[in-house]
Amino acid sequence: MGKIYAVANQKGGVGKSTTVVNLAAYLGSRDYTVLCIDIDAQGNTTTGFGIKKKSIEYSTYDILIGQARIQEAIRRTEFKNVSIVPATSALAGGEVEMISIDDRMNRLKMQLLTCRLDYDYIIIDCPPSLSLMTINSLVACDKIIVPMQAEFYALEGLSQLMETIRIIKNKYNPLLDIEGVLFTMFDPRLNVSQQVVAEVEKYLPGKVFKTKIPRNVRLSEAPSYGQPVMYYDKNSRGSESYELLGLEILGEEPPAKKEKKGLFKRKK
Ligand SMILES: Nc1ncnc2c1ncn2[C@@H]1O[C@H](COP(=O)(O)OP(=O)(O)O)[C@@H](O)[C@H]1O
Ligand SMILES: [Mg+2]
Repeated sequence: MGKIYAVANQKGGVGKSTTVVNLAAYLGSRDYTVLCIDIDAQGNTTTGFGIKKKSIEYSTYDILIGQARIQEAIRRTEFKNVSIVPATSALAGGEVEMISIDDRMNRLKMQLLTCRLDYDYIIIDCPPSLSLMTINSLVACDKIIVPMQAEFYALEGLSQLMETIRIIKNKYNPLLDIEGVLFTMFDPRLNVSQQVVAEVEKYLPGKVFKTKIPRNVRLSEAPSYGQPVMYYDKNSRGSESYELLGLEILGEEPPAKKEKKGLFKRKK
């Protein structure tokens, strides 16, 4: 049965969509079958895989409001073993339309129950808010990946997210937990980076990914070509760092040469 990750942080621009696209591509390249769910009206994961908005027949919006079954909305991407339920701007209105729907927190979960046997991993790209779409994702998922920039106010945002997780856990999803906090656009040379990592490690012991994603221009260029970074520039630091994240999630050791480049630190 597929493991379901929600990639969530109510702050925008922290690397959620980048993480979904590149983690999915890596796991797909390793022969795991992956389904991405784009539940953000901005549709950055959708375009990140080169899917044109005009070509979308059914989207996440349709499956949430019950206009389509998830099987009708799933599309193959051009990338090995990766499929997606795409998003369009229609999702922005879905929030209000769903007010009158019973059981509106459970809509995504119900749809995923009908397809989770078909995939090894399902990865949900959440919007930058603690809205109904994020709540649907937290109700539906097994574990949460929290991309975060190492900034001064990071911990404030994290405690707000933890409070939401606590409520969902109590009411809807008792096994809900954080898989890991992922530092993105990370610069290990800055004092603030090390301080914030230390604070988050103290706040959530054992929940910080060893892998840190550096700021890398290839990662920001790849979406405009509609490609995950490993297809756009396999030898970039961006590509290597998401490979390390994939290995860490799979519980595999990274090759020693990657460690030398400073993308990953083993505990001494
Ligand atoms: N590690 C990185 N290095 C450089 N640019 C990045 C990196 N991660 C994300 N970006 C860029 O930063 C912007 C925000 O990232 P995105 O993944 O869309 O964040 P979110 O989904 O959290 O809003 C995008 O333009 C993206 O290309
Ligand atoms: Mg996004």
